[in-house]
Amino acid sequence: MPDQHLPADHVDSMLEAAIAAPSMHNTQPWRFEVAGHVIDLFLDGTRTLPAEDPTGRAMRIAAGAATFNLRCAAAALGYGTWYGLAPYPEQPDLLARIVIEPTSTPDEALRALAEQIPHRHTDRRPSDPTTPLAQPIRVALVHAAYAEGAELTWLGEPEVHTVLDLVLDTDLREIGDWHRRAERAHWVGGDRPTEGIPSTALGPRSASYPAAVRDMATRPADRMRQETTFETHPDLAVLSTDYDQPADQVAAGAALERVLLTATRAGVSASFLNQPLEFDDLRRKVQLLTQRPGHADMIIRFAHSRPGPGTARRQVADFLPAKEQP
Ligand SMILES: Cc1cc2nc3c(=O)[nH]c(=O)nc-3n(C[C@H](O)[C@H](O)[C@H](O)COP(=O)(O)O)c2cc1C
Repeated sequence: MPDQHLPADHVDSMLEAAIAAPSMHNTQPWRFEVAGHVIDLFLDGTRTLPAEDPTGRAMRIAAGAATFNLRCAAAALGYGTWYGLAPYPEQPDLLARIVIEPTSTPDEALRALAEQIPHRHTDRRPSDPTTPLAQPIRVALVHAAYAEGAELTWLGEPEVHTVLDLVLDTDLREIGDWHRRAERAHWVGGDRPTEGIPSTALGPRSASYPAAVRDMATRPADRMRQETTFETHPDLAVLSTDYDQPADQVAAGAALERVLLTATRAGVSASFLNQPLEFDDLRRKVQLLTQRPGHADMIIRFAHSRPGPGTARRQVADFLPAKEQP
């Protein structure tokens, strides 16, 4: 290898792309170590969600999404990449190792998706019910998931209503669960200049219940926000993997981000109705709805997007040990 170090601005731009990935409650639960051409992504154990994500699955999904963005950014800089997901079981916090290959050919599909990274935001506003999602877009999203080793299953009308019933079930379970509510209040609402979900990203309240979109609000002021009508027939799909080991969950995250960036390019936005997946018995019921074996990782609601406010991120330097800051 002619030079053992990547240019600092390249490292910076790859990490910036990685941290733009979605994460539950925008906890950004990653840290990175850069050594020569190798970038390791670790879980940041100070950013867990013990009540809502006790097994860390959501963190591993976020890690996979960050890894996918990093690969896209590397391709945009002209690099090929080689990577392993959760490569060493004896090191459970090391969720991905990405080797940047200056001499191999960059993946053109990833290079094209890199352009979409700044435009992807979780969109919790109502969809335009007059414009159904075109079939070629649905197929493209299925292929995007498949390319990263996961399956995206579109739900029919009866299954969508079953999911909404499961949402109701989840909300009933949450009523007396102060631990879950306190955790959410810690991360959601207010200004949130560097992390968490700001009030501006909550979208309007739904005038009917259960709604096609998850209402993340916990604060009294957010509960009083503007009310509107959401689509009654949301376009929902379930992202699942065949197995449920840590590496499968990281792969699910990569698939999620590939699906989301592909959707963004097609003018389609997404939000998530994941609350049933936070309970094991309901998660199994969601997977049954897909009529395939496997493990449900995300319930995604797709909608026609309009430009909307994003959520903030911490600085790249905050994700690196002091000695590795570019
Ligand atoms: C594993 C995972 C689970 C999530 N679950 C939900 C959810 O149930 N409801 C929701 O509205 N957003 C959910 N999100 C979206 C995050 O809140 C969002 O990614 C984060 O606030 C950052 O905002 P952004 O996606 O606009 O960049 C989830 C994201 C991930 C990665």
